[in-house]
Amino acid sequence: MCGIVGYIGQDDTKEILLNGLEKLEYRGYDSAGIATLNDQGVHLFKVKGRIAALRESVDNSIHATMGIGQTRWATHGVPSKENAHPHQSASGRFTLVHNGVIENYQDLKAEYLRDIHFASDTDTEVIVQLIEKLFTEINDTAEAFRKAMSQLKGSYAIAMIDREDHDTLYVAKNKSPLLVGLGDGFNVVASDAMATLNLTNQYLEIHDQEIVLVRRNYVEIQDLNGQIIHREAFVAQIDASDIEKGTYPHFMLKEIDEQPFVMRKIINEYQTEDNQLKLDKNVREAMNNCDRIYIIAAGTSYHAGLVGKEFIEKLAKIPVEVHIASEFSYNMPLLSDKPLFIFISQSGETADSRAVLVKIKEMGYPTLTITNVPGSTLSREADYTLNLYAGPEIAVASTKAYTAQIAVLAILAVDTAKTKGFSIDFDPMQELAIAANAMEVLTAQKDTIEELTRKYLDTTRNAFFIGRSTDYHVCMEGALKLKEISYIQAEGFAGGELKHGTIALIEEGTPVIALATQENVNYAIRGNVQEVVARGASDMVISMKGLEQDTDAFVIPRVHELLTPLVSVVPLQLLAYYAALHRGCDVDKPRNLAKSVTVE
Ligand code: F6R
Repeated sequence: MCGIVGYIGQDDTKEILLNGLEKLEYRGYDSAGIATLNDQGVHLFKVKGRIAALRESVDNSIHATMGIGQTRWATHGVPSKENAHPHQSASGRFTLVHNGVIENYQDLKAEYLRDIHFASDTDTEVIVQLIEKLFTEINDTAEAFRKAMSQLKGSYAIAMIDREDHDTLYVAKNKSPLLVGLGDGFNVVASDAMATLNLTNQYLEIHDQEIVLVRRNYVEIQDLNGQIIHREAFVAQIDASDIEKGTYPHFMLKEIDEQPFVMRKIINEYQTEDNQLKLDKNVREAMNNCDRIYIIAAGTSYHAGLVGKEFIEKLAKIPVEVHIASEFSYNMPLLSDKPLFIFISQSGETADSRAVLVKIKEMGYPTLTITNVPGSTLSREADYTLNLYAGPEIAVASTKAYTAQIAVLAILAVDTAKTKGFSIDFDPMQELAIAANAMEVLTAQKDTIEELTRKYLDTTRNAFFIGRSTDYHVCMEGALKLKEISYIQAEGFAGGELKHGTIALIEEGTPVIALATQENVNYAIRGNVQEVVARGASDMVISMKGLEQDTDAFVIPRVHELLTPLVSVVPLQLLAYYAALHRGCDVDKPRNLAKSVTVE
């Protein structure tokens, strides 16, 4: 969600900024812009829509060696050229890009900027106008920048250029992600290292409420009082080839196919040489010492949390509650005496989850983040982190991160059970390896799934996914995948619950996709299928080997009953993929969505 790139060095900036913004496209955006600075002044280009359109609009004859760019996901003000970043102060001296949300922008406007004519509806413009207002009083850009930052409430990652200063990018951060990349004779700013990995793999972490003056040959981090802060750079652990599509038409398809490899990577990372489970001893202790676990997550990660609850309760015998992050803060349940909070987040940046983390830390409870991005905000701020090792997930629709979350939760549950001395008849590594092989079998059956998509989903307006127990949770994920990328209205339902109202929506030909991978509910879910078929539904049963019936549309290989979500989700991911493809949707960048949801 929103992406920032900045560059100051020796080379022409246009291409660097456009390239960087393209790498951030996956985060989701609806407008984009860049500003460069040279002896002729500031050159500003903005468009509503895609980077390709921005590229077209840029004047290639302009040469400049510093600049900033941004992809905007609209919050305040509609997606439009006027509201696109960068924004400029009234005199045009200051030009700024911003990710995040300024909560007190209306107060600042009323207090300091009553006489200013605003060119956009954004909260961002208030920042740049405020900087200019403060600058007219103190005549020092760095000081005005610092002062303005200390007035802002909310989240921000900011990069600014001053028309009269050709040697500095002014950068600041609070709650929104931002990194400074270090080069030889140049430095860069990026909300995600992926944007500038082709230029450098050395990065400086910027903490909340810090200001950074980024120059060609050095970088100075300060606190809001101007005190200098020293910090070592770190090496970004992403391989540039991980963020290329290779021969795949879409990242989503590549990431679906990568799932077996991710499973094997997780097995390797969480296993010692003598085949024992390998887990941070602090995590072990935290799991062992708590009397209840609260899982906090959003979207797909929430769905993984629902599966994780089953693992932890069944194996480690610790009660687990799973909460939607955006609800938790406003409707906090009664907490147990010794709670442990587990935050599940692919990106590690989800603002809703972070808001809960901040609150929980204030309350003094232990926190663990399970994430795909070590060094992300949720990872840095929680007491402990477990990595997913899924590699960068670029498609907005999460696939390999979901299955990685489930695999890591299974390992965590088994490890805890063992620490507690419970004897369990489940070897997670062996069973994960079997699941990885089953995933491979499924990803080789794309033609069959594409045929099923044609038959059931190509022309429908809506679809239902039904399942019981574990299958129900996977159905919720299947429905989310389908709706987010194909825009088919889809619901994941508990098979037994449909008849309590929702069955009224079943009409002649309504597709109902039923999962049947759980022996104890196989009979019951098949009864539910008959109920909808009797009302005209077009049923597609996906069952597991050993539980199948002749009429089933698709049968997945047999895996351990606890791990069926890892495998049953694969055909659902592929159904969503082909449905979106056949409808001409932008599979990797669905409308209105962002990969990293950094606003609450
Ligand atoms: C759906 C999807 C989202 C995310 C949700 C939380 O495919 O990706 O539902 O799961 O926005 O994001 P993370 O996991 O980054 O916290």
